[in-house]
Amino acid sequence: MEQITDTFQIEDTHYASFANKTKISIEKGQGIYVYDEKGQKYVDFTSGWGVTSIGHANPVITKALVEQSKKIIQNPNSGATYSPARSKLISLMQKEVLPENLTRVFFANSGAEVNDAAIKLARKATGKLNIISTKKSFHGRTISTVSATGQNKHRNKFNPLIPHHLFVPYNDITAMAQIITQNVAAVILEPIQGEGGINIPDENYLKKLSNLCHKNDVLLIIDEIQTGFCRTGSMFTSDKVKIDILTMAKGIAGGFPFAAFAMSEEVHDKLEVGDHGGTYCGNPLGCAVAYAVIKYMLDNKICENVETLGQFALAELMKLQKEYPDLIKDLRGKGLLIAIEMADEDIAASLNSKCFDNGLLLNVTQGNVIRMFPALNISKEEMEEGLEIFKNSLIEIS
Ligand SMILES: Cc1ncc(COP(=O)(O)O)c(C=O)c1O
Repeated sequence: MEQITDTFQIEDTHYASFANKTKISIEKGQGIYVYDEKGQKYVDFTSGWGVTSIGHANPVITKALVEQSKKIIQNPNSGATYSPARSKLISLMQKEVLPENLTRVFFANSGAEVNDAAIKLARKATGKLNIISTKKSFHGRTISTVSATGQNKHRNKFNPLIPHHLFVPYNDITAMAQIITQNVAAVILEPIQGEGGINIPDENYLKKLSNLCHKNDVLLIIDEIQTGFCRTGSMFTSDKVKIDILTMAKGIAGGFPFAAFAMSEEVHDKLEVGDHGGTYCGNPLGCAVAYAVIKYMLDNKICENVETLGQFALAELMKLQKEYPDLIKDLRGKGLLIAIEMADEDIAASLNSKCFDNGLLLNVTQGNVIRMFPALNISKEEMEEGLEIFKNSLIEIS
């Protein structure tokens, strides 16, 4: 008890208060469950914002961490020397994960960092200026990625932002066509907008966008930071379209801070030594963990599990929506990225807090959208357990 008071008190006093925190201090996790300092168990349907893709404390991650850290964590001269851990990950990604035309990959530490690199390198590769992104998009919290983010709440306070960012409504190909001729280096787009409320575009939107970009010599950067690595039931949500740069993070290393971007040979040809880098980029420890996570996903057919359980969860939630149409305004999702849009922000807040009281951790975005994105290796029984708590909590607040 004393320990808990200390944790809350120390963080509340000395940790920068950038988040509205839930009063829970998590000490450990196992699979989809987490435990607070008192030993109270919770079902985690947030997976640390879509990160702990293969569950908490997965032994394959622990093994990779231990084995690699006994060998080496950081190379001499970092990325300027070769690493077997890095090359093993590159091979696996080239053979089993990345779209065929994305033959060059680079590793980094966070989603914002790889989006930042993609924007920077797209300008260099094309010699053009403007970057188009979409309204309600989210691409990160660095100064360049807030400049590319289409939500005023993330932008307004930080002026001056990086110039030459243009915005169009999401899923609107006509609006895109109208500005794509204006000295545009790249379009950056989430194949499903995550933080913006889980907005799913029309089926052909990505294909049309890809054609439009390539017709106008504009690079297409697809941000799969939230949607990649089986989250929506396939390795990437943009699997079927031709893209030029793909950015990845979150689920790629199951909770270890790691990210990647991959690009076509044509883009890579326009870049040169010194254009990019970073002290921790491609460090062997991160590479070993990412390799273990991706291998686990492939060996255990995690994308298939996501597809099946995503459909199951949506069907169960639809039954609830039918019973409580005044509370649940809309339901949408793909795989295990599910939005339950509540009638208003107060209802979302009280349902979220009731679920917390009943032992289920959820995430709320855009005020009234409850986002469910559990670990991707969740079992049907575990999914039922979480949904049961959700249902009971909904009944209680109704
Ligand atoms: C689509 C998308 N892009 C970029 C980011 C930023 O990633 P990070 O928080 O690792 O910098 C996020 C984070 O939520 C995201 O969802």
